[in-house]
Order: sequence, then C-alpha cells, then structure tokens
Amino acid sequence: MLYVSKRMLCRPQDSERMCANTFLILDLVIVCSVFGHIVCRQADNNTGISPSYRPERNFDNVKEEPPSRPNSHFTSDGYNQPYFGNNTERNVTVQLGKTAYLNCKINQLGDRTVSWVRQRDLHILTVGSYTYTSDQRFKSLHLEGTTNWTLKIQYTQKQDAGIYECQISTEPKLSLNYTLNVVVAKAVIIEGEKLYIQSGSTINLTCVINNNTSPPIFVFWYHNGKMINYETTKGIEVVTDKGPTTVSKLRIENAKLSNSGNYSCSPSYAYSANITVHVLDGDKPAAMHHGRHTSQGTVITYNIVLLLTTWILAHTLCLETNFERSGTWNQPS
Ligand SMILES: *[C@@H]1O[C@H](CO)[C@@H](O)[C@H](O)[C@H]1NC(C)=O
Ligand SMILES: *[C@@H]1O[C@H](CO)[C@@H](O)[C@H](O)[C@H]1NC(C)=O
Ligand SMILES: *[C@@H]1O[C@H](CO)[C@@H](O)[C@H](O)[C@H]1NC(C)=O
Ligand SMILES: *[C@@H]1O[C@H](CO)[C@@H](O)[C@H](O)[C@H]1NC(C)=O
Ligand SMILES: *[C@@H]1O[C@H](CO)[C@@H](O)[C@H](O)[C@H]1NC(C)=O
Ligand SMILES: *[C@@H]1O[C@H](CO)[C@@H](O)[C@H](O)[C@H]1NC(C)=O
Ligand SMILES: *[C@@H]1O[C@H](CO)[C@@H](O)[C@H](O)[C@H]1NC(C)=O
Ligand SMILES: *[C@@H]1O[C@H](CO)[C@@H](O)[C@H](O)[C@H]1NC(C)=O
Repeated sequence: MLYVSKRMLCRPQDSERMCANTFLILDLVIVCSVFGHIVCRQADNNTGISPSYRPERNFDNVKEEPPSRPNSHFTSDGYNQPYFGNNTERNVTVQLGKTAYLNCKINQLGDRTVSWVRQRDLHILTVGSYTYTSDQRFKSLHLEGTTNWTLKIQYTQKQDAGIYECQISTEPKLSLNYTLNVVVAKAVIIEGEKLYIQSGSTINLTCVINNNTSPPIFVFWYHNGKMINYETTKGIEVVTDKGPTTVSKLRIENAKLSNSGNYSCSPSYAYSANITVHVLDGDKPAAMHHGRHTSQGTVITYNIVLLLTTWILAHTLCLETNFERSGTWNQPS
C-alpha cells in the first residue's frame, strides 16, 4: 500500500465526490486497523499469555523494619565520632553576583577539622576557620561554640555553580555534598524587538525582570547608550515596581523623531533587554504581511503520514503477538 499525498489521491480533474470517496476509504482503512489492533490485544488477554504479566506484589512484608544501622556516632573504643546535623538545605540557589552561604552543621566535632572542598577542581577552600584559597570571595564563617560551619561565597560567578563538599577530617573522612546553583535573572521588554509609533503619541515600554531570587537594586533605562531615568524635563517617566517579578515602565509623552533609537532596560544583577523604537513622521508603513506557510496540502500530507504510522504500528504489534502465539503453539508438549 502506498499513500503519497493528497495531490495524488485527488487530482484537479477528479470530481469532489470521487475525492470524498478516496478519503472515506482511507478513513475506513484506519478505523479497521485501529479496531483490529484492539481486537488483537483482547485476544492476547483471553489466551492468558500476556507478555506483560507480572506476579502481584506481596504486601504482607510491608511492615518489615528496615535493616538496623550500627550506631556510627561512637567507635568501638567509645570515642565520640562527629556526625552531621540537620543539613536539609543542601541545594542552594543564588542570583549571579550575590552572596551564597553553604551551612554545614556538625555535632561532636571534637578535635577534628571541617573543610570545604570545591568538587570541580578538588580545591580546598577553607580549613577550620581559615580561608585557604587565595580567591578573596570565599570565606569560612564559624562562631566558636556553635555547630555551624559556613562557606560564604561573595560576588558569585556563573562558574561557581557546582558541588561543594563539607568534609570532616575523620579516618575515613565524612563528607556531605552541597549543590550551588547560580541563576541569571533576565530582563524582557514585552513590546518586543521593534516598536513603530507615530510622532506625538506616547511611547510605553514595559520591562519585566523574572527569575529574581531578590529584586534588583535599580533598573536603568538607556536610550542609544545614555541613561535616561532622570530626564523628567523631557517628558520621560520611569516607574519601577520591585518584587518577585520586577516591572519597570518607561513612558515618553509626545514622541519626537529624536526619540527613535535603541532603548535598553538594564537591571542590576540581570541581563538587560533592548528594543528599537521608530518614531514615524507620516503614515505607519503597511504592516508586514505574514504569509501562511502551512497550506492545506501539507497539513493533509502530515495527517496521512501520522495515520499511516499508526496503522503500521498497529499491524506490527499484531504480527508480533501472532508470532509469539504461533511460537507457543508449535512447542512440542
Ligand atoms: C531541619 O531543619 C529544617 C529547617 O532548616 C526544619 O524545617 C526541620 O524541621 C529540621 N528537622 C529536624 C529533624 O530537626
Ligand atoms: C535544586 O534547586 C534548583 C533550583 O531551585 C532546581 O532546579 C533543582 O531541581 C534542585 N535540585 C535538586 C536535586 O533538588
Ligand atoms: C550558620 O551560620 C551562618 C553564618 O554565620 C548563618 O548565616 C546561619 O544563619 C547559621 N545557621 C544556623 C542554622 O545557625
Ligand atoms: C560528592 O560529589 C562528588 C562529585 O560528583 C562525588 O564524587 C562524591 O562521591 C560525592 N560525595 C558524596 C558524599 O555524595
Ligand atoms: C532562570 O534562570 C535559569 C538559569 O539562568 C534559566 O535556565 C531559566 O530559564 C530561568 N527561568 C526563567 C523563568 O527565566
Ligand atoms: C501608552 O499609555 C497611555 C496611557 O498610559 C496611553 O494613553 C497610550 O495610548 C499608550 N501608548 C501606546 C503606544 O500604547
Ligand atoms: C541599535 O542596535 C542595533 C543592534 O541591535 C544596531 O545595529 C544599531 O546601529 C543601533 N542603533 C543605534 C541608533 O544605536
Ligand atoms: C538586543 O537584544 C537581543 C536579544 O533580544 C540581543 O541579541 C542583542 O545583542 C541586543 N542588542 C544590543 C545592542 O544590546
């Protein structure tokens, strides 16, 4: 069987009725194959040799206790062993440029030391209260008498993202992995990449900053590279609402040709967004004509391919099950 496309099934000289008939036959074939598939599956169930048969789970043992763990907090000679405290926050997300804190709580530390090791290059960052690395952005924070050993990372960079290990100098060493995610907030100007506007009307630009772990300190607007936040005398107004989603609005009343150009919205700790504004003197140019790329022909061809695939799949499944079945029948008893 070979279906090629609608054009081959229904040529221009074909009558409407003939074309409809061709499609009716197609539909019948599809319905039949789907139906055949269902029947074929049901036959499987009746023969009781469904390949997906699994023995039922035995739920009698559900209340069985988990295997007991030896108390690892004490060694055989009774010496107190350190152990990790309630360190639930081990997946830490920080906004690019902000400070990250990784807190590691350890009980019964005794005379052992705690180190923070960066897994990427196995670089030892801190040992006890000392900061080992020359990178000044890393600091060991520990208050005497507390169980809290913190790695502080200032001015986070994208490459700081990764796994950090909190290690205790026992033999063998005890360690706990922490994951640091550095996210970048992005500004988006909802008006798009280009804005055409009549001279004399109002330019409204809306900049949305998502993905903040904390709101930006400032949002600056630039026109062709020049900051314009405070140019109130020129009819320019900027209103910024800070929050989990920060929205900054730029309004320029009575737009002039000189207001044309690139505008960018540039928040602290977020990638900026830009838009090109064209202030038009005369009529707005005709809107771009968006041709329809999906003609009816391609949609129908696509549908036929999809249905044909379904049909082949159904038949393959049927053939496979039949083969399995005949295999069973041919077995000598
Ligand atoms: C562990 O700490 C988290 C908060 O950091 C708290 O919600 C949780 O109840 C603590 N769990 C235990 C067992 O102490
Ligand atoms: C860690 O946090 C990030 C961001 O909040 C999330 O995308 C990721 O799925 C988390 N990973 C795990 C292992 O929980
Ligand atoms: C642990 O210490 C850090 C830094 O000193 C502090 O920010 C954090 O709140 C402390 N955490 C706990 C649970 O004490
Ligand atoms: C921590 O992560 C590193 C690197 O992915 C891995 O080799 C190590 O086994 C992990 N340690 C623990 C205690 O999960
Ligand atoms: C948030 O930031 C992450 C990392 O930069 C990015 O993969 C994700 O798409 C962002 N989500 C949104 C809603 O912007
Ligand atoms: C800009 O907003 C003002 C009201 O805030 C409205 O009158 C004006 O039509 C808007 N201009 C455009 C181009 O959307
Ligand atoms: C605006 O930006 C585009 C690139 O995004 C650049 O080609 C164009 O020269 C810029 N126009 C002005 C007036 O700066
Ligand atoms: C404007 O933003 C686009 C992405 O929306 C970016 O590719 C382009 O480099 C930006 N242009 C300028 C001049 O910032």
